[in-house]
Amino acid sequence: MTQLTRISISLENSLLEAFDRRNSAKGYATRSEAIRDLIRDRLIKEANERGEGEQVAVVTLVYDHHARELVSRLVDKAHHHHDLVVSSLHVHLGERHCLEVSVLRGPADRVRHLGDELLATKGVLHGDITYTSGEQALRQWH
Ligand code: NI
Repeated sequence: MTQLTRISISLENSLLEAFDRRNSAKGYATRSEAIRDLIRDRLIKEANERGEGEQVAVVTLVYDHHARELVSRLVDKAHHHHDLVVSSLHVHLGERHCLEVSVLRGPADRVRHLGDELLATKGVLHGDITYTSGEQALRQWH
């Protein structure tokens, strides 16, 4: 069982009130759970910025499938880095537009590089990358 330590921190009243309002709006049952989430989020982001360890990224891309060169460039990139692409989901949004969600997993620097490269591909209309950690990092905190 995970060992817990109780800590005490001092905050300005106004900061605490804003934090409590935010937690309530987001549905947190306790301050502790909200603080744990913020700490994990910060640790994961900083590890990713340092390019350390295994990273998992969810890449969302929206593009016009009539742009055939774009589609072929995206497929080429995915095949070139097939060891990083765990899975992809393709949704036909309508007559023209496609949504693609890909999960990448591997060394942080390579995952970050591929994610950035996919988003920067000419013709991608909208995109985003969400990073999280692999099994190893999460295990040490839980
Ligand atoms: Ni499509």
